Amino acid sequence: MKINHTDLEALLKQDLETCNKEHDLQQIKSRYLGKKGHLTNLFSSLKDIPSENRKSYGSELNNLKQILTKLINSKFEELDNNKEKSKRLDLDVPARHHQFGSHHPISLVIRRIEKIFSGFGFETHDGPEIETEHYNFKSLNIPDNHPARDMHDTFYFDSDLLLRTHTSSVQIHAMEHMSAPLRVLAPGRVYRCDSDPTHSPMFHQIEGLCVDTDISFSNLKWLLNDFIYKFFQSKKIKTRFRPSYFPFTEPSAEMDIMFNGKWLEVLGCGMVHPNVLKNVNIDPKKYSGLAFGLGIERFAMLAYQIKDLRVFFENDINFLEQFESLRES
Ligand code: PHE
Repeated sequence: MKINHTDLEALLKQDLETCNKEHDLQQIKSRYLGKKGHLTNLFSSLKDIPSENRKSYGSELNNLKQILTKLINSKFEELDNNKEKSKRLDLDVPARHHQFGSHHPISLVIRRIEKIFSGFGFETHDGPEIETEHYNFKSLNIPDNHPARDMHDTFYFDSDLLLRTHTSSVQIHAMEHMSAPLRVLAPGRVYRCDSDPTHSPMFHQIEGLCVDTDISFSNLKWLLNDFIYKFFQSKKIKTRFRPSYFPFTEPSAEMDIMFNGKWLEVLGCGMVHPNVLKNVNIDPKKYSGLAFGLGIERFAMLAYQIKDLRVFFENDINFLEQFESLRES
């Protein structure tokens, strides 16, 4: 089709009016300005124009080229702006994948242990992580200069304030608050100046304390055995109690469980020392108590078959994500 140069601008305007896609606009551009486009055709017809008119016709075509190019470019801009706008408002864009967080394995184990002991009537009790000598040692029957203090590599702030080395300090707070009878469970962070693949300077313990009339060592053994059966969901697990020493319990013991053919120490326990009861004005002739303290990381390592304690504190997302499915357990 032969197109007159005077019609070209109007024709292009018509085409642009109905165009709303970049792809179509590219085609329009090549139809008008491309190698085989209308304008190129007109330029190539220059040679047929009588020489006296050629110059003015040539400059008319050049003007036309500028006009067409401008029209097309501004249409490109317009489409681009529309795209930006619709980007902002596109309600059909699929929602971003929503990632659920998960509880830390230490929290999961704390919950699991709390759940088991709440079945035995134990209530969770909190205590401070910054303690005084009195609560961490003295009231637990560990006097000044007692060699038992060396069992704990303590972080001191000054001669009186320290980071608690065990959750046993919460035994004292709980008995001062509630007196006897009571059953409390105290999970929390504890601190010792120690760090290697099996020791971290901060770790978690759960303390258990039951004070009542007629509490005996057999109550302690039954309670802890039953807890182990429930925690590992097996009654077949073998346990044993070895005599041990803690200044705040008498007698004291350590409990081992058989795991993969080996005895593994899992907690310390004993009958609350009468001096400890006296320190909080509970009459040891009327009341007796059982107490235990266990390392939560140890239980988490056993429950989830984790070999290096340090992974609990590195917060590597790949490690933590594995516990997502256990959110409700
Ligand atoms: N506090 C002891 C420890 O940290 C554990 C323990 C608690 C022992 C209660 C007996 C009774 O090792």
